[in-house]
Amino acid sequence: MTAENSAANPALSNLLHEERHFDPPASLAANANVTADAYQQASDDRLAFWEEQARRLSWSQPWDTVLEWDAPFAKWFNGGKLNVAYNCVDRHVEAGHGDQVAIHWEGEPGDTRTITYSDLLAEVSKAANALTELGVETGDRVMIYMPMIPEAAIAMLACARLGAPHSVVFGGFSADSLRNRIDDASAKVMITSDGGYRRGAPSALKPAVDEALEGTGVEKVLVVRRTGQDVPWTEGRDVWWHDVVDSQPAEHTPEFFDAEHPLFILYTSGTTAKPKGILHTTGGYLTQASYTHHAVFDLKPDTDVYWCTADIGWVTGHSYIVYGPLSNRSTQVMYEGTPDTPHKGRFWELIEKYKVSILYTAPTAIRSFMKWGDDLPAKFDLSTLRVLGSVGEPINPEAWMWYREHIGGGNCPVVDTWWQTETGAIMISPLPGVTSTKPGSAQVALPGIAADIVDDQGKPVPDGGGGYLVLTEPWPAMLRGIWGDPERYQDTYWSRFADEGYYFAGDGAKKDNDGDLWLLGRVDDVMNVSGHRISTTEVESALVSHPKVAEAAVVGATDPTTGQGIVAFVILRGADEGGDGEALVKELRNHVAKEIGPIAKPRQILLVPELPKTRSGKIMRRLLRDVAENRSMGDVTTLADPTVMNLISSGITSGKSED
Ligand code: WT7
Repeated sequence: MTAENSAANPALSNLLHEERHFDPPASLAANANVTADAYQQASDDRLAFWEEQARRLSWSQPWDTVLEWDAPFAKWFNGGKLNVAYNCVDRHVEAGHGDQVAIHWEGEPGDTRTITYSDLLAEVSKAANALTELGVETGDRVMIYMPMIPEAAIAMLACARLGAPHSVVFGGFSADSLRNRIDDASAKVMITSDGGYRRGAPSALKPAVDEALEGTGVEKVLVVRRTGQDVPWTEGRDVWWHDVVDSQPAEHTPEFFDAEHPLFILYTSGTTAKPKGILHTTGGYLTQASYTHHAVFDLKPDTDVYWCTADIGWVTGHSYIVYGPLSNRSTQVMYEGTPDTPHKGRFWELIEKYKVSILYTAPTAIRSFMKWGDDLPAKFDLSTLRVLGSVGEPINPEAWMWYREHIGGGNCPVVDTWWQTETGAIMISPLPGVTSTKPGSAQVALPGIAADIVDDQGKPVPDGGGGYLVLTEPWPAMLRGIWGDPERYQDTYWSRFADEGYYFAGDGAKKDNDGDLWLLGRVDDVMNVSGHRISTTEVESALVSHPKVAEAAVVGATDPTTGQGIVAFVILRGADEGGDGEALVKELRNHVAKEIGPIAKPRQILLVPELPKTRSGKIMRRLLRDVAENRSMGDVTTLADPTVMNLISSGITSGKSED
């Protein structure tokens, strides 16, 4: 962390002048799952508060201690035993809710499936039996690389049922990214599909799996048939889901696991090219995922229809499609495709069709909807909606207001939820029945969560001040480490404010005069593109792996739709290697897509003769960001060669290309 990297997007600091606020609708406040006294109760006795939330779940054996804290290593509810799948499925069926719809699934082409809790129990049991037959034992890692089809959730629950930690990899990642994760997790089994539907056409997954598996220790590949497209097949290794799962008995007796038994590993970007395997465990994670879903979305299991539009490959899909909602017996919508297929009103059509009452989506999507026009949502009946959520990046007040007015009809609370893959569950958010919401603010830490904003020295800033967002007390769903790398865990999250013992989230934030929090974006070398974290180093490594590239520097530049866009500055090998700049830029963008995945494709690649460096050789990203955002240049006095910036501005040979 150096000063030149310190965040603070100036466009966002102006938010502090926001004066508007919106009280909760009276009827929602009167019937809210969680009321204002929760804050007091939690601050009186934080651990007793979390024990009470843990009791919302079913345990086969109670815990001995609420929290054992050997900083920065936590054990929550140690000694307790539970099964996550039992909590998400079986207990609802046992309580007589087997006929309730768990998932209204909608394929992109318009095919549908309705899955009740009884159906889900049968499917998860069969899948657990099949995985056992394929050799999966407690503790084995299982990779999941799938489109948004019910089997993705079923596979996760089957793994949880067996105590086999899953590692879901977003279907948009490349074969290379998938292989790195398989190797890091030493996975034994892979669950995938032939493909899925995206933007109106089948999109293959299995070929990437085959490429990724070469030389790994994966023994079996379980393949769901979704699109029916031709797939390469390795006899003895590959098996069809419909062959080995469908024929299994629909009963499976769950085993109960220690509260600290690993539940999943989810890879996320850090400041180096090597992705971090974020490890989550069982009891604390489920307690907080379940409680926050109940509190922040005010979910009523008998009447609400909930829809989280995230992909299962991100933590939002883990905590707010699978574990939170199902533990709370939600009826939810799951959608396979993109919001613009077959038409740009698809989301609104689905809300009308399924009478969705709670919607959880991302600012990048909201900004696209704004661009597509107010008339699209206006064509559909969205009157069933009552709570709207946002996640993934700061939501600008304009987008927040549009969401409230055009989607929420002016009477739904908008809850802007701040959290991370590492936190496992929501940490900072309004409560829809309590908070007077402000457009663009995530407001205050939830009951039982302790967050603050501190300066460079770790001292809390006063109201009106800005600094670094920290978490000052351990929380139940916190990551338990980075898979296989305890040192990196300490260094990355706990060394910046080691004396204070604070977890540093990597985000800059401000407190307004009421003490409400406003997130300002990352302060490290991590970009946030459409709510997805991508490290600058990862993209740089991908670029320099191309034979024509000598050096590369990557920055995130403010982007009106995606939050940040990836801008790369590239120095080519050899003076006349440039040739056709346009063609080469295209080649480099595709190269990055192949190495990491299409989400990491730079929006813009600038071929430059030099990069601005400090005397110690560190690239000054701040100056590159100025160029990328067309701002006038900041202070260049610490540059080893101050004329470099002129060289860059005048020597740029290629620009933007569109997708
Ligand atoms: C980073 C975490 C949490 C699930 C999706 C992303 C940014 C997330 C907000 C928000 C401002 C936000 C932060 C955070 N972020 N939510 N409501 N307001 N920023 O998970 O990939 O682990 O990314 O996303 O920068 O550190 P992730």
